[in-house]
Amino acid sequence: MEIIHTIAWMKEQARQARAENRIVGLVPTMGALHRGHLALIERAKRECSTVIASIFVNPKQFGPKEDFSKYPRTFESDKEKLEQAGVDSLLAPEAAEIYPQGFSSYVQVDGLSERLEGRSRPGHFRGVATVVMKLLQIVQPNFAYFGRKDAQQSRIITQMSRDLNLDSEIVVCPIVREPDGLAMSSRNAYLNAEERKAATVLHRALDAAKNELAAGVRDALQLQTTLRRKLDCERLATVDYAEIIDSESFEPVVRLSEPSYIVLAVFIGKTRLIDNLYIEPKAPGSDELLFHF
Ligand code: PAJ
Repeated sequence: MEIIHTIAWMKEQARQARAENRIVGLVPTMGALHRGHLALIERAKRECSTVIASIFVNPKQFGPKEDFSKYPRTFESDKEKLEQAGVDSLLAPEAAEIYPQGFSSYVQVDGLSERLEGRSRPGHFRGVATVVMKLLQIVQPNFAYFGRKDAQQSRIITQMSRDLNLDSEIVVCPIVREPDGLAMSSRNAYLNAEERKAATVLHRALDAAKNELAAGVRDALQLQTTLRRKLDCERLATVDYAEIIDSESFEPVVRLSEPSYIVLAVFIGKTRLIDNLYIEPKAPGSDELLFHF
């Protein structure tokens, strides 16, 4: 695996791969890699002949009071994992390479970026969209892989790609979970033993809502009450939001009928965790539902 630090050399390598008619896949990450990230790499390996991963803890997507400086950085073990997974090139630039002096252009996806995560983390999605746009421009992959764990992020990147006529296809992959249901996240490393146990409440709340849906409940208010009841039982949990939203607009729904998400953001102690359940009718118009945990 080649480790690439400069944009110029990454562009050159990607250009060469395209000239050789290789199918190029890009997997952007911020490192501290876990099985969720590796599932994206595995999917890319299956679908592409050249796989490029990036590790860049993007300062522009962290708010001034957020965890940029203490975000876990585990470059040596990340490198090993990517090498083992068969990644061809790892782009690992310094911040000054991505944002040199005088950098002043940003990508803003209106509407979608202002709700939920965007409301709690102002400027977050502007930072995400800008860095992802840059990575897509640098590598120009055929496919770029993202996780449904960050459902709103994936939706915004898909919208950006559509709006700005990007050539890369955005592929959204399922959530990878720990055996007890906790969605894998680099931020799980912040949890102490007691918080780690409490953190399963996100999955437990989603599961309770899923059971109600399976029993025929479609009323969003009723589902929300179930979520809140579960979440409020956990002493260490403070709910930021728990909503049932349309999967395209990310606007709240009153009754669940179209493809939807149940989205959660919950503080466990000081650690903010997100999780979601994607729900779609089994067939158009059908009342039977498919659940994507
Ligand atoms: P990061 O949090 O490192 O995540 C990188 C990718 O892995 C994202 O697409 C994320 O959705 C996916 N991912 C994380 N946990 C997952 C899980 N449990 N199951 C499946 N996929 C999972 O998201 C970012 O970095 C950044 O915002 C980035 C897109 C790299 C831009 O800076």
